Amino acid sequence: MIVYGGDWNPEQWPEETWSEDVVLMREAGVTRVSVGIFAWSHLEPEEGRYDFAWFDRILDLLGEHGIEACLATPTAAPPPWFGHTYPEALPVDRDGRRVHHGSRQGFCPSSPIYRDRALRIAEKVADRYRDHEAVVMWHVHNEYGCHNARCYCDASAEAFRAWLCERYQSLDALNDAWGTAFWSQRYSDWAQILPPRITSFLTNPAHELDFKRFSSDALVSLYRAERALLGPKPATTNLMAGAHWDMDCWSFAEAVDVVATDHYLIGEHPHEDLAFAADYARSLNGGRPWLLMEHSTSAVNWQGLNLAKDPGELRRNSLAHLARGADAIMFFQWRQSRAGAEKWHSAMLPHAGTDTKIWRETVALGAELKSLRDVSGSTVAADVAILLDHDSVWAQDHPAQPTDRLKPVEVIKEWHAALWRAGITCDIARPEHDLSGYRLVVAPSLYLVSDEGAANLENFVAAGGVALVGPYSGIVDPHDRVRLGGYPGAFRDLLGVSVEEFFPLTEPIALAGGGVGRIWSEQARLTTAKALDTYRDGRPAWTRNEWGGGTAHYLTTLPADLSPIMARVCEEAGVTPAAQAPPGVEVVRRTHPDGRSYLFAINHTDEDAVVEGVAVPAGDVVVTGP
Ligand code: GAL
Repeated sequence: MIVYGGDWNPEQWPEETWSEDVVLMREAGVTRVSVGIFAWSHLEPEEGRYDFAWFDRILDLLGEHGIEACLATPTAAPPPWFGHTYPEALPVDRDGRRVHHGSRQGFCPSSPIYRDRALRIAEKVADRYRDHEAVVMWHVHNEYGCHNARCYCDASAEAFRAWLCERYQSLDALNDAWGTAFWSQRYSDWAQILPPRITSFLTNPAHELDFKRFSSDALVSLYRAERALLGPKPATTNLMAGAHWDMDCWSFAEAVDVVATDHYLIGEHPHEDLAFAADYARSLNGGRPWLLMEHSTSAVNWQGLNLAKDPGELRRNSLAHLARGADAIMFFQWRQSRAGAEKWHSAMLPHAGTDTKIWRETVALGAELKSLRDVSGSTVAADVAILLDHDSVWAQDHPAQPTDRLKPVEVIKEWHAALWRAGITCDIARPEHDLSGYRLVVAPSLYLVSDEGAANLENFVAAGGVALVGPYSGIVDPHDRVRLGGYPGAFRDLLGVSVEEFFPLTEPIALAGGGVGRIWSEQARLTTAKALDTYRDGRPAWTRNEWGGGTAHYLTTLPADLSPIMARVCEEAGVTPAAQAPPGVEVVRRTHPDGRSYLFAINHTDEDAVVEGVAVPAGDVVVTGP
């Protein structure tokens, strides 16, 4: 079965609406709803006084109608009594401003008071409902760190020091790792260490990096503490894979029973961003089917301009997630809110009711997913991995860099998009992961890499793989200390080049091969590599080095058009698309272990297309199965 549904927030509606809701859910083919996500102030109206009677009726209603509940712990939105009683548990920003209650996620992740009260309500919910027949899964919290990932208050300072003490054991080790000989920053007592609050000038980059690691770990620790209370049914939390970068998704992925994520369209090429997020979610779940916990039926409400989806776009988006391995297609939210900050956010059941485009598309999608139920459990195989490391993204996100225009996440997504345009499906992997199943590994942006990660890539190439490494990679160690002796330090031997100086660009630069480089260039000397393209002055722009049984390519700039380079490395690696398709037609294959497979062809263009002899009309999606 493909799970279908969305967040249901019945506490926003009078009880008469609830029975109408469940009847309409059945009509739409809804199989599961997430409930209780923002219900804390209804479940515990005053501290220590609980009201579960209404929620009993909600879960019973779902049970009676055969709709599964993904039951949330309501800890993402502490009630006003919490902020009012414990203002010291509200988050503090970098500039020292404490936020007030009145929105959501109004808590410091390291606050002992928050932890205690959150665990108390989570336990109450768990004790009451863990055996309820409707409950099939736990939805812990909601989008950890969406608004409060980093808190700079005194409680955070204390927790940060404890985390550092555990990590470094001694101040000498910390001083060495952070390079505190610079600017007289040597610490002589743990008590002197603060979160990287506002300072007179630039902060210490290693200090910042550790604070980012600590802050992400604090959220994972909250997840684990809640999860421990829930019991045997599977639990997850909805990540924001590919959209929010303050949390290390790999750490969350280790903690959850199955990876769930949310995705909202963003950017100039939203369906390419969608493909990235979906590939990332699948990879986080070790290639197994994952859950799309939220997306939108039409417009969101939090961008400057919130575009409604065109007819057919909702279906294309949902099926694109399905194609990339989702076994649940869910939305925020079931019924569009009448009041509150998200009343202009689309839902499955819009303000205007059932005689609407959105409702008709919602019902049609439910029926289609039912017909595609056999797809569930199948997986997506990829021959290509894109390396992605949160530590590296975080480390590069410090203002003292050669240029602020080289943005790691943008580069990673651009490279993914280049593969997407070539019809190549790829996984996302950490540099330390087992890469032996891939033919091609690309590292678009790996400023920071561990020795282990660098050796892993070397071994992958030595064993016959093809690698493509982007500029400004392999530069620093995990403490953000430069690897000396010529860049790109960790990959110098593998790539067969040595770089002595960076030349960030003010404008694009012509390449001898006819292309153009953007944003970045380097003064590289070939040691064992050969140049495949150069700048007009002869400096290498694209190099290729033989290493053991494989080859390692390097780019010293960001080519405006990556397609010839991707085509070359794919050819060398023997990587081909899931099917031949015209540009703008996305093709992905899901396969069962017994060989039954499904080819998804998603036509994002205005032109009719043909894929493997099957017509795929403009804007349409065709799934061909066994
Ligand atoms: C998500 C969140 C939902 C809703 C949605 C709106 O970030 O989990 O509760 O706010 O965004 O797009």
